[in-house]
Amino acid sequence: MPVFSHRLLIALAACTLLGGAAAVWERWSTDRRDNQILSLAPEDVLRRPDLVSFAIAEAKPVYRARCASCHGADLKGNVRTGAPDLSDSVWLYDTDSVTAIERTLLYGIRSRQPKARNVAEMPAFGLRGLLTPAEIGDAVQYVLALSKRPNLAEAAVAGRQIFLGKGMCYDCHGPDGSGSPDYGAPNLTVNVWNNGGDQNTIYHNIYYGLAHVCPAWYGVIPLERIRALAIWLHSISHAAPAAVASARAIKSS
Ligand code: HEC
Ligand code: HEC
Repeated sequence: MPVFSHRLLIALAACTLLGGAAAVWERWSTDRRDNQILSLAPEDVLRRPDLVSFAIAEAKPVYRARCASCHGADLKGNVRTGAPDLSDSVWLYDTDSVTAIERTLLYGIRSRQPKARNVAEMPAFGLRGLLTPAEIGDAVQYVLALSKRPNLAEAAVAGRQIFLGKGMCYDCHGPDGSGSPDYGAPNLTVNVWNNGGDQNTIYHNIYYGLAHVCPAWYGVIPLERIRALAIWLHSISHAAPAAVASARAIKSS
């Protein structure tokens, strides 16, 4: 065999070995960082930009595969599925910590998982005869007023009585309409709507009620990826604007 082809063979073997070693190194370093994001306290992970970047890179493909169909490829939510915008600072459930977001991801919302978030749902006031259509119409005007939008002032005054009285809306949404993170009752004052927020939709939601489901991901998505998702979602909604823009750019990687 000519010397040339021996050299070629040796070079090829060296490349294969190096490639193999690189793959093993890559795997080892991914496993190591997976372990770190799971074993460190989430607050400590947030203080490590290298681990946050790693978590975001790990989370994005999972998001595309498991979450985008309901929450939108751009995280902006979808009024047809009732899935909230995950990139803004308006939350249904208390999400000051990674752990609180992670809990939602692990057990879901009304998912039938025993540990799911499931304290209250939005009652079907019309269907169950709790309010008349006229009363619901007034409540709609008050909801418009709460979100500082044009409304029929007189009907809104009547709607306020319903909100604070017969409708017991205050019980879940708070007397000032600012919502309750314990109940997952949305803040009605910020003009951010998971279901649309136009007059007809609000009427429909009060008449027929709402009980949206976010699936539980425990046992479906590996724990380190669930943690990575929680870190990503937390960093988007709690970071400085520039960091938010880069964390949001999910199609870029
Ligand atoms: C089948 C549709 C669907 C899928 C798939 C889905 N979600 Fe949801 N998700 C929802 C709905 C609907 C809500 C709102 C529930 C409510 O109104 O109480 C929600 C709520 C949430 C919340 C709570 C937001 C808040 O404001 O507190 C988080 C966080 C969340 N989803 C993350 C995810 C992640 C991450 C994935 C993928 C791993 C995912 N969801 C997949 C439908 C979905
Ligand atoms: C028992 C608790 C409870 C009561 C009482 C209640 N709500 Fe709700 N409401 C909720 C919950 C929980 C949701 C979110 C449900 C979901 O997304 O699946 C909700 C959702 C809504 C929405 C939709 C918000 C959006 O983002 O699209 C409107 C509007 C609303 N409620 C208005 C009212 C009004 C008006 C009343 C009184 C007539 C009322 N609610 C009474 C718990 C309650």
